[in-house]
Amino acid sequence: MLDKTKKDWWKSAVFYQVYPKSFQDTDGDGIGDIPGIISRLDYLEKLGIDGIWLSPVYASPQRDNGYDISDYRDIHPPFGTMADMEELIAEADRRGITIIMDLVLNHSSDQHSWFLSAKADKNSPYHDFYIWRDGAPDCPPNDMRATFGGPAWSYVPEIGQWYFHQFSPWQPDLNWANPAMRRELYDMIRFWVDKGVGGFRLDVIDNIGKEPDNQITCNGPKLHEYIRELRREAFREDTLVTVGEAWSANVDLARLYAEPGGSELSMIFQFEHMCVDYGRDKWDARPLPLVKLKECFQRWQTGLAGRGWNSLFLENHDLPRIVSAWGDDKKYRVESAKMLAAMCHGMQGTPYIYQGEEIGMTNIRLPIGEYDDLEIHNAYREGLARGETPERVMEGIYAKGRDNARTPMQWTDGEYAGFSAAKPWLPVNPNHSEINVRAALADPDSVFYFYQKLIALRKKYPVFREGGFTLLNPEDENVFAYVRDTEEERLLVVCNFTMWEQPEVCPAAFRGAEVLAANYKDPGGPLRPYEARMLYVKS
Ligand code: GLC
Repeated sequence: MLDKTKKDWWKSAVFYQVYPKSFQDTDGDGIGDIPGIISRLDYLEKLGIDGIWLSPVYASPQRDNGYDISDYRDIHPPFGTMADMEELIAEADRRGITIIMDLVLNHSSDQHSWFLSAKADKNSPYHDFYIWRDGAPDCPPNDMRATFGGPAWSYVPEIGQWYFHQFSPWQPDLNWANPAMRRELYDMIRFWVDKGVGGFRLDVIDNIGKEPDNQITCNGPKLHEYIRELRREAFREDTLVTVGEAWSANVDLARLYAEPGGSELSMIFQFEHMCVDYGRDKWDARPLPLVKLKECFQRWQTGLAGRGWNSLFLENHDLPRIVSAWGDDKKYRVESAKMLAAMCHGMQGTPYIYQGEEIGMTNIRLPIGEYDDLEIHNAYREGLARGETPERVMEGIYAKGRDNARTPMQWTDGEYAGFSAAKPWLPVNPNHSEINVRAALADPDSVFYFYQKLIALRKKYPVFREGGFTLLNPEDENVFAYVRDTEEERLLVVCNFTMWEQPEVCPAAFRGAEVLAANYKDPGGPLRPYEARMLYVKS
């Protein structure tokens, strides 16, 4: 077990993201809940993870599945009670698992008492907790657009003002220029630290320094000043792990957020690697350009070495299932899921596994009316309005829609996949008859045991944490191969990204090397479809 009293313990850790609504239902309402998470802790302990990033469980009208918080100090009733949450923290802790909560500090719900008061009365002490501009009802302050569609400003006739919302009208942006607002957030964070939470994932943190008047959303001039204040005032303990979601980050910016002195955050989630297959936008998905992906990882691996810290991930609740996106979710599902895992977990950084990734869950295709996500419905409306055919718009949604990752966790081949006794809030993927935890646990060659092995290897060999990174054959469009090395150890990771045989990649130093992990028996010779090899030598 990791020594979590050490300042940088999270550099050796592996995290697992739980999306509560879809993980495990225990009270038969078709919605996952906190007692459900508790009931699956033994499973997560078996996988070997050190921490859970818990997507929001706070009180919320759920317009954006909890990323719209109406009370930061209370639990959404369908998920359970505060007592359940305390039990989760304690039960996880007993198994050496730290709970990392999601913190949505950029905006609240429009049903938060602060906003209700702010929009009812210009003189309310909470009015200035949000971003308001005067203006005529038909004339928004500027033409900024909201991420989930429509204008980024909404009008409140009662007070004759517009409020700013980067995401949706139900998610008004908090005004970080107001010190009283910031103080409320810091006190709230301390409330959770006092409950035993071990860290936080900071939702869209690159947005908090926004200047709407200058049309600046991300990377505003005061962003890092605010984050440093957060660190001083709220994340006081060096042992708290903090990971900021920053879609706008590049390597230089990441060095600011995650500088080794610890004045800001432990690490960030950056998304450059997840965007390499975007065309015009994310809905316009293209085949994976492997050379570009390799170049991207190389830049992050070498750029943050000794000057920051990477997070490593291929999935989360906003992204498609990686085996469907970059692997083969049919004939070579198991092989390609393991290959992608090896590619990711061999690098330097802290890995995050998204629920179901460890059993190779796949994307789903639903009729538009069966999707829940507001972003999907908006993309559909906007696509048709642009004159695209419904078929073409649906292709984008099948490839990139967020509900791909949000279908219920597949525990068994039984009704509703063992997720719930009732019809779930979002359809279960019909392939749960084959892809499920029970089957994975019964098969020693399953994707699950491959992840378990990768987690154990990271704990055993310092090269995973410490080693430098060298990309081999950067121009090869089919195989991703790299070496990690320290003075004592060398690790070679070779991944065939195609369903065709590819020439062997094995530098002389690795001839006869120990095989740490592989997704085929007897690794050696040409690479088989989606083959992955991890070889190790002492130098
Ligand atoms: C983040 C979350 C996403 C949410 C958005 C607005 O990107 O991951 O799920 O919709 O922020 O809060």
